[in-house]
Amino acid sequence: MTTMPDLEIVKNYFEKSVDAHGATPQGVDWNSEFSQEIRFEQLLKICDPTNPFSIVDYGCGYGALADYLTKKGFKANYFGFDIVDKMLITAREHHAGKSNRTFTEDRNLLPVCDYVVASGIFNYRANISFEDWTTHIISIFHQFNELSQKGFSSNFLTKYSDTDHMRSDLYYADPCYLFDYCKRNFSKNVALLHDYTIYDFTILVRKG
Ligand SMILES: C[S@@+](CC[C@H](N)C(=O)[O-])C[C@H]1O[C@@H](n2cnc3c(N)ncnc32)[C@H](O)[C@@H]1O
Repeated sequence: MTTMPDLEIVKNYFEKSVDAHGATPQGVDWNSEFSQEIRFEQLLKICDPTNPFSIVDYGCGYGALADYLTKKGFKANYFGFDIVDKMLITAREHHAGKSNRTFTEDRNLLPVCDYVVASGIFNYRANISFEDWTTHIISIFHQFNELSQKGFSSNFLTKYSDTDHMRSDLYYADPCYLFDYCKRNFSKNVALLHDYTIYDFTILVRKG
């Protein structure tokens, strides 16, 4: 039987990383700016850059995506959500005085947007079982579906990673399972990107 996981241990993990490293890629447990930004590049392929859009960054950390959107010339109204209070405190400090970005710890305050994107929120599963973590992912995918009008995207560590580099506390997803689930439950237009050099893939669910 599967149960919804208690996320306290996940919160503690990310609280420690932001405490130690602040508003940096290491502060959200990425090993470099390169690996953070290559993921953003894939996730944002869901967006039509020719028009302004609204976007939820689900598991926003310190909101690095908001800066990336500006750097790349996207015109976006950005809403960052995270479950770790210290991430949001850091995010609000880091983005003070910048426009078109809002941060919240209350999922119920998130508006329905054009797009929802999520980077790295499913990687750390601590001692939660693979089955329970998969149930958790599917439940959050349904939230992405409800919160997005035009589409959503999310990334995962891949089960096609080299075995000697895999950690027992991380979740290595099966891309074919998630592709199939999204195709059957959310949209006919689903893309799986598994060609960007790191041990990671991105799912894009395009609606309408
Ligand atoms: C690997 S970090 C990446 C942060 C940011 N997306 C980035 O790429 O810079 C994952 C973030 O997701 C948050 N997170 C984990 N599980 C979450 C959940 N179920 N809902 C919302 N945020 C979550 C963590 O607190 C952490 O800030």
